[in-house]
Amino acid sequence: MDNVLRGKNIIIGISGGIAAYKTPQLVRLLKKSGAFIRVVLTESATRFVSELALATVSEERVYRSLFPPADTTGTDYTRHISLGEWADAFVIAPATANTLARLSAGLCDDMLTALFLTLRPGKPVMIFPSMDGQMFLSPSVQRNIAILSGQGCRLITPESGELASGLIGVGRMPEPESIVSSLEKALQSTVPSSPLCGKSVVVTAGPTREKIDGVRFISNYSSGKMGFAIARAASERGALVTLITGPVYLETPSGVKRLDVETAMEMHDAAKSCFKSCNIFIGAAAVSDYRPATSFEGKMKKEKPEIELTLIKNPDILAEFGMQKAPGQLAVGFALETHAGLDNARNKLSAKNLDLIALNFFDRNTSGFEVDTNILTLIDNEGLTTELPQLPKDDAADKLLDLIEQLYVKTRQ
Ligand code: PMT
Repeated sequence: MDNVLRGKNIIIGISGGIAAYKTPQLVRLLKKSGAFIRVVLTESATRFVSELALATVSEERVYRSLFPPADTTGTDYTRHISLGEWADAFVIAPATANTLARLSAGLCDDMLTALFLTLRPGKPVMIFPSMDGQMFLSPSVQRNIAILSGQGCRLITPESGELASGLIGVGRMPEPESIVSSLEKALQSTVPSSPLCGKSVVVTAGPTREKIDGVRFISNYSSGKMGFAIARAASERGALVTLITGPVYLETPSGVKRLDVETAMEMHDAAKSCFKSCNIFIGAAAVSDYRPATSFEGKMKKEKPEIELTLIKNPDILAEFGMQKAPGQLAVGFALETHAGLDNARNKLSAKNLDLIALNFFDRNTSGFEVDTNILTLIDNEGLTTELPQLPKDDAADKLLDLIEQLYVKTRQ
């Protein structure tokens, strides 16, 4: 990746959460990449990190109050405006619940909030909420996040782990290295021109597990790699991504909201709650078509020489979305085939009322389940077929999203 940070003017806004102690390291990393840094703190932030440390690592004065000392002359009184003009990007990390509320309400009674209003259009604003997990999930915080997202800010979902309270949950600010990498992507990506920017994209990924008894289940080889790659690529284009995933061993892509499920019925319920609000639904999960009619409590004993398992059909999540999607909503599916791929994929495209389907074959070395690459054939609802070569799943996801962008623009014309 080219060094997109070199020569860029970055403002780091710090509010008063425990994660503020990591910000001198963030400033150091950005400086090392050749960026010019100005730091803005809220009053509460000074309780968690020292102005002196930040001034030292940034080699610049640190801003806090809107009002400069009484003997100041000249342009220092309008510093919030000149800083807003100067900035190529504004990173707010950590963003507390209070700061999110003040930003979303348009308050401007300190340097950080005033600067937020003076920033020039099109400049990325990356906000890293960090707080107790329950606070983060509270309706008020979620409402403020939705407001700020709607204004084009990138709200990066906090990481899960041990919190300052000792509780385990979502709420941790990502490490400085991860913030730098998100910022690089934001500065490099074509986000402002992507039609997916600010749009709600739901991706299903991974396998489902259908319980036979307390310790056994029916499942498949899906690793989740393809779905996670799509979620990552959509998030990098500025989409607000919800990733509904079966049990996998993958890290959540930065900025993506992840919902973990186990069974097809749980995936169905999670997906259904997003049907109305999402703009684009992408089914990359390998959902079990059937589940045992009954699941035994505890571990089944091997007393009988043979047993019969009755399976009943699971709901087809993608088809359900396809059938009820409103004009302007897009349904995208996958077809995993072992033979007669094109015919089967075309049948699924029409039977599930999809706008686009990605056909892939199961080949342990090159495509489908588990491997890091895929070979996709994309078929749209007008029959247009695009054959992609063997690509890393990240690149295949990008190509798929290029086509989704075109279709999305078309459906809204
Ligand atoms: O996870 P990886 O290891 O990276 O592997 C990627 C993948 C092979 C799982 C992925 O590329 C893929 O092909 N996903 C779809 C697999 C599948 O179940 O295909 P299908 O042809 O059976 O289903 C067709 C479509 O309907 C799929 O979009 C599927 O998500 C959806 N479906 C199927 C059944 C069901 N009950 N609900 C659904 O939503």
